[in-house]
Amino acid sequence: MTAPILRRLADLRVRQAEWARAGETIGVVPTMGALHAGHLSLVEAACDACDRVIVTIFVNPRQFNSPEDLANYPRTEHEDAQKLSGYPVDVIYVPDPDQIYPDGYATTVSVDGLTDVLEGEFRPGHFDGVATVCAKLFLQTGAQKAFFGKKDYQQMMVVRRMARDLDIPIEVIGCETVREETGLAMSSRNLRLSVSGLQKAAALYRVMQDMATKLAEGVAVSEVESAARDALSASGFEDIEYLDLRCQNSLHKLQHPDRPARLLAAAWMDGIRLIDNIAVPVSER
Ligand code: PAF
Repeated sequence: MTAPILRRLADLRVRQAEWARAGETIGVVPTMGALHAGHLSLVEAACDACDRVIVTIFVNPRQFNSPEDLANYPRTEHEDAQKLSGYPVDVIYVPDPDQIYPDGYATTVSVDGLTDVLEGEFRPGHFDGVATVCAKLFLQTGAQKAFFGKKDYQQMMVVRRMARDLDIPIEVIGCETVREETGLAMSSRNLRLSVSGLQKAAALYRVMQDMATKLAEGVAVSEVESAARDALSASGFEDIEYLDLRCQNSLHKLQHPDRPARLLAAAWMDGIRLIDNIAVPVSER
């Protein structure tokens, strides 16, 4: 059965108040639509962990760096609602833009430190947009649990920090990245890749796994990184923005994985920007 689509905050609040009165746990899965198996795994986790589940669909203009990227972002509300009909979702919240950014809206939520590197460096202002809309969605839904994919690892950390710093009583739960059979991380952006681009893009995960193995064996990060960049270029990636080993908690750059670490990458294929990250086993060298 398809869940009701609500577009006004007042309507969402009526449901949310009923559920809160009944002492029910509310989970939220924030999305920008164009739902794929990765999103659906978050919805499944939310349905397993919560009494009530709200999926939000809002293409947030404040987190896009280029008007072209915003204009090209896929909008597939009808198909999204159909995909969600396979899950016991209670509400699909598709707020009208003025429900998030009413006339005269003037507040930005900005998280320092964690946002200076990686995505923050290459997409200035992106995380201000993400933190702002997530703060609003958390407060509007009154959810106690929010479900985020680890594919956007830095986003998950930024949102978790924002909620903690602002005392928003919500637990930000990270769920594993869902991949295509080729290993390519699922992303709404994959829809914009050509058939050959889709195949070539699978090299990103392969190369990162290979890098992680070598790092765990004690090979220096500089050596591993330059070989990986060459391999990605040979596979058709046009530009590799970053390919970094970072502490999984602070996102500080590491020379070797002497503590829990992640390898994070952003690279362009077919004019589409793709990101991915994987855990790297701790190695004493
Ligand atoms: O990951 C996304 O789809 C978006 O950044 C989010 C979390 C829904 C905020 O707009």
